[in-house]
Formats: sequence, structure tokens, C-alpha cells
Amino acid sequence: YQIKGLLYEGKAKKIYETDNPDIVIMEYKDDATAFDGTKRGTIREKGIVNNKVSNHFFKLLESKGIPTHFVEEIDERRTAVKKVEIVPVEIIVRNIAAGSLCNRLGLEEGIVLKRPILEFCYKNDALHDPQINQYHILALELATEEEVDRIVEYSFKTNQVLREYLKEVNIDLIDFKLEFGRYKGNIVLADEISPDTCRFWDVNTKEKLDKDRFRRDLGNVEEAYKEVLKRLGL
Ligand code: C5P
Repeated sequence: YQIKGLLYEGKAKKIYETDNPDIVIMEYKDDATAFDGTKRGTIREKGIVNNKVSNHFFKLLESKGIPTHFVEEIDERRTAVKKVEIVPVEIIVRNIAAGSLCNRLGLEEGIVLKRPILEFCYKNDALHDPQINQYHILALELATEEEVDRIVEYSFKTNQVLREYLKEVNIDLIDFKLEFGRYKGNIVLADEISPDTCRFWDVNTKEKLDKDRFRRDLGNVEEAYKEVLKRLGL
């Protein structure tokens, strides 16, 4: 692909246009932010890890029947993906209580939930991504009812696939965030699935292998990201 102009720069990624109107290039940066952008830093080679991990998961999910934006890995930091219109809703799936769920509901971190929880947030920086529900999504026309049904179906399926897969490499999938896009009229899984957007705990030691090491200054941040790569055989 012939790379053209920069289309968008976010906190962790840059998106470039290409000569193909249906394809864009995602480039993963090492920049890290947390707590609504108030904490900033760099995690060395995070971009390389996230690119590889995310592509590995997207290929796995495609093979299990979940459509994604993945096209092909270009190099260690860049991937060609379908140019989608992002649905302005973040989906969070939780298996074990952690993070904001503990703060909101007064739960102890690590409590195993009776069944997975699915949450929606409105993607809006100025409003700090407020939590919403399916009624808000339909009332504000953020997505259609058919799209919401697809998003919910793909989110739970993604949880099932990734949870079982990660268990094999001794990682518990605590929770994660997904984004979806529209491509030629269909809902496809987009953005990334990486240690930046998931909580991964070692099954035995409960050691955190994700961005919480950065958020909470736990040390060995780069090492944790690399450990995820290693366990996935990448
Ligand atoms: O902060 P909270 O506990 O709600 O996060 C739940 C999950 O969603 C975590 O795995 C976190 O990394 C991810 N997340 C994200 N991007 C956000 C909010 C949460 O990747 N904007």
C-alpha cells in the first residue's frame, strides 16, 4: 500500500490514509496515558507488543467467525486495516471485578463474577466517556438496534474465545474494552485488543501483565508486556 497523509493521531496510535480508499494503516506508538489523559509516559516497545498481540487475537477471532478490521501486518509497528466508521461506543466486558467496577460498586478486586458483565460507554473525550446503556444508544442514534445486537453477540463471543485461549497460556482474562466499526454496511471488530485495553493476570501468582502496572506504578511494565508476547508464542 502506498501510504498517504496522516488521517488521525490518538493517544496510542496514528492512522494513515493509503492509495486504497477502503484501507488505512494503523501505527502503534509507545506513548501511554491513564486516568483520562492526566498520567502520561512511555512504555518502551509497547507499540511493537500491542501490534503483534492485537493482530494475533484478531486472526484468532476471525477464524472463530467474528469479522474484524484486520487485513495484514506491514511491519512490527504497522498494520493495514479496513477503513471503518467507528461506532462511538466502547464496550467493556468483565469476568472478574477490577478497576472502575470495584470503585463504583464497592467490590473487592479479584471477586469472580457469577457471569460476565457487559457495559457501554459513550466515546466522548469532553464528557470523559460516560457509561450509558442500550436505551441511550438507540435514543441518541449512536447505533441501530440490529447493530447493537451484533455488537453484544460479538462481544460475548470474543470474551469466550479469548478467555479459553488465554487460559491455555496461564493467563486469566479479567476484563477488556472493545470498539466496533461499520464496513460496507456490516459491524466489524476494530481498534485493538492488547495489554493496553485488557487486564491479564497470571493464573497462579495473580501477577498483573497489563497496563495496570503503568497506571499504578507497579514497576516492570515493559517486562509484563513482553511476557504476554512470550506466552502467546510471538
Ligand atoms: O477502568 P475500567 O476498570 O473501567 O476498565 C475496564 C477495562 O477496559 C480495562 O481492561 C481497561 O484497560 C479497558 N479500558 C480501555 N480504554 C478505556 C477504558 C477502559 O481500554 N477508555
